[in-house]
Amino acid sequence: MSFPNHRPRRLRATPAMRRLTAETRLAPADLILPAFIREGLTEPSPISSMPGVVQHTTESLKRAAAEAVELGVGGIMLFGVPAVRDAQGTASLDPEGVLNKAIRDVKAEVGDDLVIMGDVCLDEFTDHGHCGVLDADGYVDNDATLEIYGRMAVAQADAGAHMLGPSGMMDGQIAVIRQALEESGHKNTAILAYAAKYASAFYGPFREAVDSQLKGDRRTYQMDAANRREAVLEVELDLEEGADMVMVKPAMSYLDILADVAAMSPVPVSAYQISGEYAMIEAAAANGWIDRRGAITESVLGIKRAGADTVLTYWASELAGWLKES
Ligand code: PBG
Repeated sequence: MSFPNHRPRRLRATPAMRRLTAETRLAPADLILPAFIREGLTEPSPISSMPGVVQHTTESLKRAAAEAVELGVGGIMLFGVPAVRDAQGTASLDPEGVLNKAIRDVKAEVGDDLVIMGDVCLDEFTDHGHCGVLDADGYVDNDATLEIYGRMAVAQADAGAHMLGPSGMMDGQIAVIRQALEESGHKNTAILAYAAKYASAFYGPFREAVDSQLKGDRRTYQMDAANRREAVLEVELDLEEGADMVMVKPAMSYLDILADVAAMSPVPVSAYQISGEYAMIEAAAANGWIDRRGAITESVLGIKRAGADTVLTYWASELAGWLKES
């Protein structure tokens, strides 16, 4: 060819041409909104490290859920912050406890119009802040924790959750939860397994969001950032145990993992754009260093392009609003 080949650029020439030829599209239904509710609040309480995100009251949570429905958001993942914590995380099992009650309240508000998910993990409920109970040496006791997860799952299903999100990275958690759900008659309650969840510095702001008491880290149960093959093993195990959907978390520093999982998973794949990812973009935008809307849209598009079918993001409702107007 004697002329320069402009085939790549021809399809970029106008907004309509770019829209027609986009390989990846975002839709509100792909988005899942993580939301926090704190027991005993009379007003929503801002989370300073996550500007724009709050710890909800019952009323403000119900409004946020109704707004998510209006905007076409696909789901909501609920995290509860209890007033009282203990070593066993007992408040997680109380049908009137903050998270179980929130699930019931949101269900009463939006019914089946939004997929209502509950976090099945003990870190919000324990006074030491670990995702499970501790043995005499202070090591997180996998099997003793499983027994509590099974009961927590039933409590959340009883409250009306459509889907459960076990995020504690205990081995065998999916099997135990599936069995507990079957035995309690919740055969249609689905499980979104936090299958490949890495120990990450980017969880920092979440600790503020749930008033976490954790000292130390979660490296004995969450994955090591150096490992890639291991993510496939984690997903395979969760699939064998009955996971209905699998998740990679965090998202932006783990797009290779997400692509690997998307290539092998026969079930829908989620990615969680976590608190620190949110905080970084908000902080840079607040300084005028990046364009906020552009950066948010690009970050979620990149996660989807890497292979996520659904994305948990604190921007779910705002982004859904932008997608509806465009
Ligand atoms: C554990 C849990 C965590 C997050 C979601 N579920 C914290 C952790 O594992 O340390 C973090 C989410 C985020 O950072 O946005 N219940």
